[in-house]
Amino acid sequence: MAPCEEQNVGNVGCVATAEILRSVAIGQDHKQALSGLGFELVALLTSAFASSAELISAPAATNRLSAPLGLEASLPIPEDNPLTPERIALGKKLFYDPILSQSGTISCSSCHLPERGFASDAALSAGIEGKKGRRNAPSLFNRLYAASLFWDGRVSSLEAQALEPIQNPVEMGSSLEAVLERLRANADYRQAFKLAFSDGISTQNLARAIASFERTLLSGNSPVDRFRNSQFSALSDSARQGLWIFESKGLCSKCHSGRNFTDEKFRNTGVSWGKAPNDSGRFEVTGHEADRGRFKTPTLRDVSKTAPYMHDGSLVSLREVVEFYNRGGVPNPNLDPSMKPLNLSDSEIQNLVDFLEALSGGKVPSTQLK
Ligand code: HEC
Ligand code: HEC
Repeated sequence: MAPCEEQNVGNVGCVATAEILRSVAIGQDHKQALSGLGFELVALLTSAFASSAELISAPAATNRLSAPLGLEASLPIPEDNPLTPERIALGKKLFYDPILSQSGTISCSSCHLPERGFASDAALSAGIEGKKGRRNAPSLFNRLYAASLFWDGRVSSLEAQALEPIQNPVEMGSSLEAVLERLRANADYRQAFKLAFSDGISTQNLARAIASFERTLLSGNSPVDRFRNSQFSALSDSARQGLWIFESKGLCSKCHSGRNFTDEKFRNTGVSWGKAPNDSGRFEVTGHEADRGRFKTPTLRDVSKTAPYMHDGSLVSLREVVEFYNRGGVPNPNLDPSMKPLNLSDSEIQNLVDFLEALSGGKVPSTQLK
């Protein structure tokens, strides 16, 4: 197998080297115990080993999870939901299965399309009976690093998030009781839950399994990461110029900061200000007037795959997004102070677009596809 550096892949399908994958050091004991079982584990956050008995007693399986180049090396895995191959496999099965919806027609992947960076290709994606919500389905890459979830940050863990769409009347339109009943009636699920959790099928375990699968969806090792890792030919001149604008006069990195290109904060760009139906964003969660029109700064990783853009899906291309910023967003009383007309030339706009396109690296490993 080739080193990851030479293949533009995410976290699987290439030989992990310490420099490239920035693997988390695994204690020698664990390493031996794991390799003894044929458990190919490149890296796991040490906290996962709080419950390592559970992890190590898992039957032999192949699972490689490591932070691809460019991401924080330590993968935040909650202590009460250690990542195991059985949980990941069960979560994947659930993610792609319309059994979670009342009609038996909608799965998580109906709106979070793997080939679109696990985002939707429609401004507003259709849920049960073709009903539409009011927001664009965002990418699911690198969600394990997220401080909060949803455009307004109303939930704080992937476990809590996973139960929301199931019960949302315009998404999957079901109830937790009904889903548990359908799962209990299914021999495959009874078996898979038993393998993954000592106490079998429950709401909590349903959430834990889906969250475990989502934690494996990582995007890194993009041309931008390789450039920053001294592979200077990884970026075209134009994309390199775009990187410079992104970090300087474009003001982009004021909000899209850090390895995941987000400050995890809520910001007002004005994108849907004054449009009907009114969406007041973070205000709905906090009730603070200053939060009206603020939405979570999204990651920009794999952003070239996730059009249309913004919480309302109103901008159809990266060029439209950059032109929106070039105008300084939409004026409103709560507009973020970092939103200003940029006076970028047409070629500078193109530089930024080329840079954004060079943020893709999250080739979805085939093991994560249906
Ligand atoms: C009908 C379309 C639809 C379905 C089905 C759906 N989602 Fe979503 N998802 C969305 C939309 C729209 C949002 C944004 C909603 C908001 O911010 O208020 C979202 C947001 C999310 C987020 C938050 C991402 C972030 O960065 O804030 C996660 C995680 C997620 N969905 C996972 C799932 C999972 C897991 C399932 C299946 C159990 C699922 N979704 C089913 C449309 C859908
Ligand atoms: C004031 C903070 C801020 C600044 C400055 C900023 N962004 Fe954003 N960006 C956001 C927020 C917040 C959103 C989501 C807005 C919404 O949907 O309401 C966003 C959305 C985006 C999206 C769409 C992502 C998606 O998944 O829909 C792209 C692309 C983007 N920004 C690129 C840029 C670029 C390029 C620049 C610099 C020219 C920039 N941003 C400057 C905060 C900012």
